[in-house]
Amino acid sequence: MIEHVAEPGWVDVERYLTDVVVHPEPAHQRAVTSALEAGMPAIEVAPNAGKLLRMLVQMSGARRVLEIGTLAGFSSMWMAQGLPDDGRIVTCEYLRKHADVARANLDAAGVGHKVDIRVGAALDTLPTLAGQEAFDFVFIDADKENDANYLDWAVRLGRPGTVIVMDNVIWDGAILEPGRDETNAPGIVKALEMMGQDPRLDATAIQTVGSKGWDGFAIARVR
Ligand SMILES: C[S@@+](CC[C@H](N)C(=O)[O-])C[C@H]1O[C@@H](n2cnc3c(N)ncnc32)[C@H](O)[C@@H]1O
Repeated sequence: MIEHVAEPGWVDVERYLTDVVVHPEPAHQRAVTSALEAGMPAIEVAPNAGKLLRMLVQMSGARRVLEIGTLAGFSSMWMAQGLPDDGRIVTCEYLRKHADVARANLDAAGVGHKVDIRVGAALDTLPTLAGQEAFDFVFIDADKENDANYLDWAVRLGRPGTVIVMDNVIWDGAILEPGRDETNAPGIVKALEMMGQDPRLDATAIQTVGSKGWDGFAIARVR
């Protein structure tokens, strides 16, 4: 397994950017705190990434969002805030406990009516969403070994123009040495190669540093 180490300077700069530019709301901070209090891992996106998700949802004009990996609802909250009042997020979460914490956080933030949490393995949930109206925006942030499967489902449940964001695509550089984390890195590499080669997708990837260590995200657009 990889230990995601954040250098102090990266954390200080992220805190500065969060305070000066991002301006998270108390509900965002409460979601992070509630996860810690419930003994859940602190693996939500950083606040600047959460706001990026909100802005991408807004800029893409999305009305229907699919998320894979809910945790305490931190990223769901940011994306729900970017949707119109009749917009919807379907978010897939394996653990009932995480879904319950997320439900409380999303309701408290006043966006619960936009969020449909589906509990279970995402690969069981995703086929049940076929045949519905297409998703405009997809955020993939769950078990990394299934990233390529989730990417395939994102394309199948999307439409030309659907935006797909995949988190954690650098994994402390382990994408160049997948043997450092045989659980996660090979799945990330497989998904990145699919992003670059699948004729249904046009994609780029960005590496980042911050409180979550050395990592990054990929963005694809369905052709
Ligand atoms: C990195 S966390 C999600 C963080 C969240 N997107 C955020 O930024 O606030 C990953 C979540 O995916 C869930 N998960 C792991 N494997 C899953 C699976 N097979 N299906 C659905 N959810 C899964 C975990 O329980 C965990 O809550």
